[in-house]
Amino acid sequence: MPSPHEIAAGEVTFTKECQPCHGPRGQKSMPGMKKDAANLASERVQKKTDAELAKIIREGKKGNQEMAGHPWLSESEVQNLIRYIRTLKTP
Ligand code: HEC
Repeated sequence: MPSPHEIAAGEVTFTKECQPCHGPRGQKSMPGMKKDAANLASERVQKKTDAELAKIIREGKKGNQEMAGHPWLSESEVQNLIRYIRTLKTP
C-alpha cells in the first residue's frame, strides 16, 4: 500500500505538471486544449498498468503534442504520480 506521504507527494507533482491540462483531480479537460485531455479517473486510463502509465508520463503520447513527455521527472516522482492517479479511481 502506498503511504499517505507518497500520495501527497504525487499530488504536488500533479498540481504542477498535469493539472493545467487535466484539471482538478484529473477529471476535466481545461479550456483551450486542442484535444480533450483524458479523464484520468476513467476506466480506460485506470485499466492501464503502472508501466504503461509511467511510459506515457515519461515519453508522452505519440502524435499528440499537448500530451508531451516529462523526461525531467525522477523515478520516484513518476511512481508517486501514479500512486496519486490510482486514488482518483471512482468505484
Ligand atoms: C499541455 C497539456 C497536458 C499536460 C501538461 C499533461 N497532459 Fe496528459 N494528456 C493531454 C491530452 C491532450 C491528452 C489526450 C491525448 C490523446 O487522447 O491522444 C492526454 C492524455 C493523457 C493520458 C491518457 C493517455 C491514453 O493513452 O489514453 C494520461 C495517462 C495522461 N495524459 C497523464 C498525464 C500526466 C500524469 C501528466 C502530468 C505529468 C499529464 N498528462 C500532463 C494533455 C496534457
